[in-house]
Amino acid sequence: MSEIYFRIAIIEEEYIHKKYMEIRMPESSSKPVLVTCGLPYANGKAHIGHLRTYVPADIFVRSLRKEGRDVTFVCGSDTHGTPIVVNAEELGITPKELVEVYHKHFDETFKQLGVYFDAFGTTDDPENHNRTLDIVNRLIEKDYVYPKTIEIAYCPKCNRFLPDRYVEGSCPHCGEIARGDECDQGCGKHLEPGELLNPVCTICGGPAEYRQQEHFFFKLSNFSDYLMDYLSNDLGGTINARNYALGWVRQGLTDWCITRNLEWGVKFPGHDDLVVYVWVDAPIGYIAFTEEWAAKAGDSWEKYWKNEGEIVHFIGGDITYHHCIFWPAMLKGADYSAPTAVVASGMVKIEDKKFSKSRGNVVWVGEDYLDHGFHPDLLRYYLASYTSHTKELNFSWRVLQEKINTELVAVLGNFLYRTMLFAFKNYGEVPEGEVEPEVREEIEKALKEVKTAMAEYEFKKAVDSAMSLASFGNIYFQSHEPWSLIKQDKAACGQVLYNCLHLAKALCLIFEPVTPESMETAWKELGQEGDLHTTMYDDTLVPLKVGTKLAKPKILFTKLEDDRIEEMEEIANQRVKAADAKKTAGKGNGKEPAKSEGMEPAEEAKQAEKTGEAAKPAEEGKEKLPTIEYEDFAKLDIRVGKVLLAEPVKKSKKLIRVEVDIGEEKPRQLVAGLASYYAPEELVGKSVIVLANLKPAKLCGVESNGMMLAADNCADNIVATLMPDKEIKPGSRIR
Ligand code: 2FM
Ligand code: ZN
Repeated sequence: MSEIYFRIAIIEEEYIHKKYMEIRMPESSSKPVLVTCGLPYANGKAHIGHLRTYVPADIFVRSLRKEGRDVTFVCGSDTHGTPIVVNAEELGITPKELVEVYHKHFDETFKQLGVYFDAFGTTDDPENHNRTLDIVNRLIEKDYVYPKTIEIAYCPKCNRFLPDRYVEGSCPHCGEIARGDECDQGCGKHLEPGELLNPVCTICGGPAEYRQQEHFFFKLSNFSDYLMDYLSNDLGGTINARNYALGWVRQGLTDWCITRNLEWGVKFPGHDDLVVYVWVDAPIGYIAFTEEWAAKAGDSWEKYWKNEGEIVHFIGGDITYHHCIFWPAMLKGADYSAPTAVVASGMVKIEDKKFSKSRGNVVWVGEDYLDHGFHPDLLRYYLASYTSHTKELNFSWRVLQEKINTELVAVLGNFLYRTMLFAFKNYGEVPEGEVEPEVREEIEKALKEVKTAMAEYEFKKAVDSAMSLASFGNIYFQSHEPWSLIKQDKAACGQVLYNCLHLAKALCLIFEPVTPESMETAWKELGQEGDLHTTMYDDTLVPLKVGTKLAKPKILFTKLEDDRIEEMEEIANQRVKAADAKKTAGKGNGKEPAKSEGMEPAEEAKQAEKTGEAAKPAEEGKEKLPTIEYEDFAKLDIRVGKVLLAEPVKKSKKLIRVEVDIGEEKPRQLVAGLASYYAPEELVGKSVIVLANLKPAKLCGVESNGMMLAADNCADNIVATLMPDKEIKPGSRIR
């Protein structure tokens, strides 16, 4: 999400906040609740930014269940649209192959984080194809869809239409560089096909032109009055989402192009050459996944989508337009229930810097966190307690260390451990006693605050209230000095410990939504029967059974030591340096890669090479490369070669496989990104210059054992291979 977008959001939020001072509190209700999370694109790895939506949603779900509500929690992978197709094409694999890998990755990662969905499908599931067709056909029948001939970006060189991420240009609203359907670096506005100024093809980098084509539009403008009323009176959730959307409706809505020229996706009825725009079938996934859950659970999906059940969408703030404008209008038009609440999170920064994969400013959930043995509960706690859900969240290893050590370890962990260890050592079971009024009141107060905060989507407030109860526990323990009391009066000490143990039980229940695994450990050590995860909040006031056997407690949260944090900071620094070096060496173009959402480094390199980025000089030679020592140059084995064979690489429009004589016994196989500039036969017989000791890499499944050097002038889109200026034997070294 762009900074500008957020600044506007904050100003607007403050202004609107003055106008509507009240927070729209969900009435206390007993209706079933469907909770969903924005669907991750299945084209890259999970990072901390993703978790800002999923972890608070999971906390919310667990908390509702503890209040006894009937909750269904669904999500799935977003598998269609150009985010997927562009990536797959760059990697030389099919969209299906790509989404299979990342769908599995997200499914596993969420489970590792303790986020359990009742259904986690994909938007390519038959349920979603069918439900999308049902909704689109309904909209067509009801005359909400019409054909219109419009200008679509077209690349004459690639000979194709350029939907969404296949085209870049200037945003007509703010002038920033934007992609076809969204001004993601600037004002954050949704862009319609044909709106982008100075369009450029993102495949070949050449200028695109606009050509006329028939597409299909949804009459969004017909829904202005409905949306005004719905957003003003019915929609709950966070104030940022609602008020942002109201602003857009006031500015006037234009009809929405809902078809695209792609092969991958849900076919638009009656037009095999078109698919529906990904923002049509992605949210419909919420319904399809509810159907998948209902089929498994023997329950009804209609209770949410056709009746009075509540629907709460957790999303990132950057997709508010889609959820508060397009989506309710579509649902209304097709006679489905509209969402009851949209909960939109603020953006995520990493170490106070803008989150950026291309600049290396990213924390991957797997390789940067879980794989280093950090417990998922620590991250869950951090995400929930750092700040209010709608505000910007900064991820910093130092802040994580500070929060874990001074809050989870020093307050909650300390209270649970000292209580349970003392009780275990001295009694071995829950001693005789009863809950004192003061303790009962503290629990009731904390619980009330937690429930209220959860209902307001104020997760930080909820966690802070829960932590206050743990602080109270520490004060209670400390002030009663059980270590002295036991020497004088074991029964009186038992009464103190009874209350401490009861507080420990209450804390397990109240913290379960935030740190579920750690609380489950403590729950079992307290000898509690039954599943903590399905035990209600009300159980906090059921007195502990005297005589319940206690187990020797484990230390639940251990201090994060400086050396672990330094190690992580070093990894982060190295990543930023590597990204800088890559850019300086001309391997990046300084932009966020629209295509690559967190690929493996090898894949990123492949991608850069394939898109020609690797060959680009740094910013057309404007950026100065660092001076190197001769020894650095001497490490390069650069030789003259003669091309013996050249042929296109299957599945790739850019790559040519060449066999080059470089003075070795056998010719070298190289893969060169030259297909846009040379026909294979033009290369055969040419003398070329080859970097012979480059680490082998596979491009589109073909191994490349070196690199053919070429000069590249990005501005003129000219690429020329290098050659010696007189005949010289293949294998001659270049020094
Ligand atoms: O912006 C995104 O990452 C989208 N994949 C979110 C889709 S949410 C929903 F509408 F399905
Ligand atoms: Zn813009």
